[in-house]
Amino acid sequence: MRVQVGIIGAGPSGLLLSQLLHLQGIETIVLERRTGDYVLGRIRAGVLEQGMVDLLHEAKAGERMAKEGLIHDGFEIIFNGKRHRIDLKGLTGGDVVTVYGQTEVTKDLMDARAAMGGQIVYEAENVQILDLESDAPKLTYQKDGTSHEVTCDYIVGCDGYHGVSRKTMPQDILREFERVYPFGWLGILSETKPVSDELIYVNDKRGFALCSMRSETRSRYYIQCAFDEDLEEWTDDRFWDELRARLPEETASQLETGPSIEKSIAPLRSFVAEPMRHGRLMLAGDAAHIVPPTGAKGLNLAASDIYYAANALLEYFKEGSEDGLNNYSHNCLRRIWKGERFSWWMTTLLHRFPDESPFDRRIQAAELEYLKESQATQKALAENYVGLPF
Ligand code: APR
Ligand code: PHB
Repeated sequence: MRVQVGIIGAGPSGLLLSQLLHLQGIETIVLERRTGDYVLGRIRAGVLEQGMVDLLHEAKAGERMAKEGLIHDGFEIIFNGKRHRIDLKGLTGGDVVTVYGQTEVTKDLMDARAAMGGQIVYEAENVQILDLESDAPKLTYQKDGTSHEVTCDYIVGCDGYHGVSRKTMPQDILREFERVYPFGWLGILSETKPVSDELIYVNDKRGFALCSMRSETRSRYYIQCAFDEDLEEWTDDRFWDELRARLPEETASQLETGPSIEKSIAPLRSFVAEPMRHGRLMLAGDAAHIVPPTGAKGLNLAASDIYYAANALLEYFKEGSEDGLNNYSHNCLRRIWKGERFSWWMTTLLHRFPDESPFDRRIQAAELEYLKESQATQKALAENYVGLPF
């Protein structure tokens, strides 16, 4: 079999790329190791920048998001027990974010792909990339005990942090940059009314907390926990008690609790692999970079990679130009590193570090005070939160 673009991974990156290319008449196949239900079972962040929203519309997968997504003009930060609002819309001259879960984005993309007859192979085992430096790289995989081979013009690795694509890049040209944070996030999803209309990020002496949501009746909450925390030890009651203890009394008293419908622990990591292209293999999304979730940038950075990848491939197939492909890694990384910086900064500002010195504490307190007082600092935060231009 032969296609123009072979895509590994049917997360949001792979599905969005496949959809955008198909709409321009470029043939793709997506190979996914898991089942569709498994992919939809992963709960991740839910704050979309306008660039991502625009791309989903361009991909003809934005209809439900336009109806059900919640437009947020601002969010709050709590420190020293007091609430402070960041007026995203006012500070940026009109920009907002859309709260809509990654699970829903993925589902809408899956439906859009199915409606167009897109080729997605679920449960594709042992995907491998061959002849990556030739003009006709190949993808091989097994499905139901049969081996398959797909010859491609280009291959895009959208297979997440644990995927096969990054590992296939020649290791002598690949550079990896990493920071692992000494804590994780324990998150729960519940069918309860969110404690506030806007997201609340909390820096408390017991640790970070985040009050987020998926809809007007579904909440998502997180608390900072030890990186090796045992999930089994966290009953719902213990979670709610700990969350309440990190909120000011007035907010805690308004917290509606209920049984969790999902509960999980995520480690916090910053990671970037460079370059993002070698020969006829490109990396996109989590396959090339990870951010800690504090700035809600993971999915949005994946979206900007896909924007550059789709345009570069389009230019190649329609005009025969390799300029976009040659600049792909550079263009992506310029934006990614700014997203990395912002996510690291938000993480450093809002968490309690187990190894922090009294000096570190005072610097963090000064930074929060400065943010409260300085419009310039708030503006810098706001323009990053709503998303830097592509
Ligand atoms: N072969 C085929 N598929 C694979 C392989 C493999 N060897 N390895 C991984 N995959 C699949 C995974 O099962 C997953 O469905 O690739 C997909 C990668 O999806 P994501 O991890 O969601 O990555 P991406 O699509 O880039 O989305 C980025 O995910 O982690 C969040 O914060 C991140 O929101 C961002 C988004
Ligand atoms: C979420 O709703 O899951 C969420 C929101 C904002 C973040 C991280 C996660 O910064």
